[in-house]
Amino acid sequence: MLEHEVKIPAMPETGYQIRIGADILGSLWPEIESSFGKLNKFIVTDENLVSAGHLEKLTGQRNIPTYVIKPAGETSKHINTVISIIEAMEKVKLGRDTLILALGGGTVGDIAGFAAAIFKRGVPVIQIPTTTVSQADSAVGGKTGVDSSISKNAFGAFWHPAAVYIDVATLVTLDERQFRAGLVESVKHAIIADARYFDFLETNLDSILQRKTDVLETIAYKNCRIKGEVVEVDPLEKNQRRMLNYGHTIGHAVEAASGFELLHGEAVAIGIIAAGMIEIEMGLSQPQRLERIRRILEKLEVPVKLPGNLAENQLIEIIKHDKKAVDKWPRFVLVSDIGRVYSQNGQFAVEVSRELVEKILKQL
Ligand SMILES: NC(=O)c1ccc[n+]([C@@H]2O[C@H](COP(=O)([O-])OP(=O)(O)OC[C@H]3O[C@@H](n4cnc5c(N)ncnc54)[C@H](O)[C@@H]3O)[C@@H](O)[C@H]2O)c1
Ligand SMILES: [Zn+2]
Repeated sequence: MLEHEVKIPAMPETGYQIRIGADILGSLWPEIESSFGKLNKFIVTDENLVSAGHLEKLTGQRNIPTYVIKPAGETSKHINTVISIIEAMEKVKLGRDTLILALGGGTVGDIAGFAAAIFKRGVPVIQIPTTTVSQADSAVGGKTGVDSSISKNAFGAFWHPAAVYIDVATLVTLDERQFRAGLVESVKHAIIADARYFDFLETNLDSILQRKTDVLETIAYKNCRIKGEVVEVDPLEKNQRRMLNYGHTIGHAVEAASGFELLHGEAVAIGIIAAGMIEIEMGLSQPQRLERIRRILEKLEVPVKLPGNLAENQLIEIIKHDKKAVDKWPRFVLVSDIGRVYSQNGQFAVEVSRELVEKILKQL
């Protein structure tokens, strides 16, 4: 069992423990009872977690009120699901002394976390992530929310979990494409924060892809430590937290332009390659570094080139409307080395000209 604590000096009441292990789901309940015994429990999960047997593993023979999201996935990440969850809690007479347990991937975590943020003006939530995306990214950091019919995460709140429990053995039942795409966030963490972690990923990629739980524990720990430390210094995303956006500005544009045919991690892989090309053009990198990154992504079998049907001008239009854009052009996160984010005047998102981005997109 590995542990990491996230302490947020600016918000001392929001520190939390992250516990990581393999096959821990079945023994979590007594621990949750001993830490949160006074609170009434309510589980939010989705239909795939039920059919994979993970819900039953968590609850055993206990009869815990549960909301099962159907269909699983992004199409359910909207406000009506949050309303149904809140009404389901009211129907079983739950009040402010409720603890919500979010068992599932990022969609369950985001929906349940947002429901927790607004139910009776806020109740605690425990995140129990079960995908490579959620174990690396969404369960830690406190961003919660749901989509509107117009944009992703249009409704949202920062709502830090009361605890995070990561059982890497749950990943064994995850679909192969989802599993691989989610690992791109791990590659991103290594590139922005930890050269030794990058070496570890390179060396252990075969074992990771075979889902050996000891290596999965190590990467879950490294991811939580990296994300946790960034969140600690910048919980509300004023500056440092932007570094987590590495590969994401172009990645988001590619994801949207693909009509969400590409998974988030797959689009971010293309964004990471684009960032590496920009770094070479700006004299921040040599081609060998990009080749190392490309090799790791190719081994994950995620795309490293723009799909032929995506036009550069369509991508430029989307980038212009990036939610972090000022005067219709966003700043970009770049690294000066593997493990070191490039900053200008203390800012971790820097200027890159539109002409350069256009040039890179043409070559991509
Ligand atoms: N809050 C944040 O900081 C943050 C960060 C990154 C992503 N996100 C959000 O996370 C969402 C994506 O999360 P995701 O990639 O985990 O997708 P997801 O939760 O939709 O899970 C993907 C699919 O895998 C299934 N699944 C989950 N765990 C499984 C398991 N162990 N075994 C078998 N099937 C399983 C799900 O039912 C679903 O069908 C997006 O909505 C994204 O916006 C949020
Ligand atoms: Zn991401």
